[in-house]
Amino acid sequence: MGLLEATFLGMAAVSAAAFDGWNDFNGVARVTNAAHEVLFQKEYGFLNIPYKDPMPADAIFPVASNTKLYVAVALYQLQEAGKVDLNASIADYLNAKDLKNFGMHGTRKYCPKVAGSSECQVVRFVDLLAMSSGIPNPPFRDYFLPYAGSIGLTVKLFINQDLLFIPGTEYDYSNSAFILAGYFVEKLSGKSLREYLQKHIISVLEQSSTEYDPYDYQLSMAGDRRKRVYEYYQYRDPKTHEIYATGECRDEFDLGTANGAGGVLSTVADEQLFYYTLFNFSKDAMGKPLLQDPRSLIDLVRPRMPTSPEQKGGYFWYAQGLLSLCNWSVDHEGCDVIPNIIGYEGGLMCVHTANLLDLHVHPAVMTSVYSSTVVFDVKKALVKKMQASKTGDFLEASDRWPQQMEVSKMAWKLHNEVLNQSKQREKMEWKVRGIILP
Ligand SMILES: *[C@@H]1O[C@H](CO)[C@@H](O)[C@H](O)[C@H]1NC(C)=O
Ligand SMILES: *[C@@H]1O[C@H](CO)[C@@H](O)[C@H](O)[C@H]1NC(C)=O
Ligand SMILES: *[C@@H]1O[C@H](CO)[C@@H](O)[C@H](O)[C@H]1NC(C)=O
Ligand SMILES: *[C@@H]1O[C@H](CO)[C@@H](O)[C@H](O)[C@H]1NC(C)=O
Repeated sequence: MGLLEATFLGMAAVSAAAFDGWNDFNGVARVTNAAHEVLFQKEYGFLNIPYKDPMPADAIFPVASNTKLYVAVALYQLQEAGKVDLNASIADYLNAKDLKNFGMHGTRKYCPKVAGSSECQVVRFVDLLAMSSGIPNPPFRDYFLPYAGSIGLTVKLFINQDLLFIPGTEYDYSNSAFILAGYFVEKLSGKSLREYLQKHIISVLEQSSTEYDPYDYQLSMAGDRRKRVYEYYQYRDPKTHEIYATGECRDEFDLGTANGAGGVLSTVADEQLFYYTLFNFSKDAMGKPLLQDPRSLIDLVRPRMPTSPEQKGGYFWYAQGLLSLCNWSVDHEGCDVIPNIIGYEGGLMCVHTANLLDLHVHPAVMTSVYSSTVVFDVKKALVKKMQASKTGDFLEASDRWPQQMEVSKMAWKLHNEVLNQSKQREKMEWKVRGIILP
């Protein structure tokens, strides 16, 4: 199937279904395969709603938690450089000066505990990256606001608290763990996280529109600043789907203190380049040029923690800064080597960015759907009432999350529709991929 035909197939049929009821979608959707064919590419709505600037294909989004994969790769690179053993305890890599930074004056050894026990627990680097450290998240807003410019002071917010469980035994999504991981990238490399990611990942990949800037373009700019999406929330009538109010997303988080948990700005094309390069399991590639040792890639993608109790033996597993989706009921060993799908998402208050790379089809297919606007189905009367009560922003982060997950569902729908239409589709056998490690 040639490029044009593939594009036509995707565009003609897919836009009708996956984006039904989303005429008001502001964002970019793109499906490509590992043979460098674009199966679907479409921009929706506006970069800037009041000025009606159309959304460009290379619009720049804050990709939020998708940053975690950059941090995980950085730590695996530092392991290859002999600077750290990721199976070791993080306590072995924290000295009195670090602990002083974290507010533990006069402490010589980091000794995390679970409530009711005086025993020092071992938190390994792999636990940080697998969301299994037990280190709690501080209240959501706290680490975005007060301590701009100091990772150490941010770490202080959570490092002295009791662990939620014995490390390695449970899953609990922790931005804290990645803030700490970001701290370690800086400490082990002697560079700022921004310098490190620029030199060892972004430049290596030649991602021309990507940069790590937790201050959102205040540091400098790689891509074209005019292509940075404006962020909005919109209220939509639940029945007619008429948009009756649009607001600028002014209460966006300042990620300046959440180093490592977020902070990358990128485009769908640049993120896909990252995935295709890193998750290239062909014998000659195996993560090159980002990773040199094939074992690093295997350790990075190996499913480690089910993301919920129902997922034990199920599909959604946390690996290292990424989700590995594996059908363990089909082939346990197959999952141990290459997952079925690698996916990750990142969301702020109004932005949501969803990526999924399907390694179960040949050639591999990647779908990305990025949105710059969160849309709420709310009756006008309710909004009027809330405005009258002057309680301010009544839609808190918890209200936004289910709406953002709509973007995730769109990505899955689009993905399945494109695959369904691709006549070339060929399922990989679960056991086919015998990777021989040196
Ligand atoms: C994966 O690596 C192989 C071998 O280096 C290369 O031929 C292929 O183009 C790569 N695939 C992608 C999607 O980059
Ligand atoms: C860490 O442990 C895992 C299995 O427990 C092993 O596969 C991996 O090679 C180890 N990494 C290093 C750098 O020793
Ligand atoms: C896993 O594979 C089994 C057997 O083919 C299938 O019935 C099941 O639906 C699959 N699960 C998922 C989540 O794909
Ligand atoms: C797949 O395509 C066929 C026809 O081409 C259609 O009837 C079917 O509904 C599609 N399935 C999905 C899940 O989109």
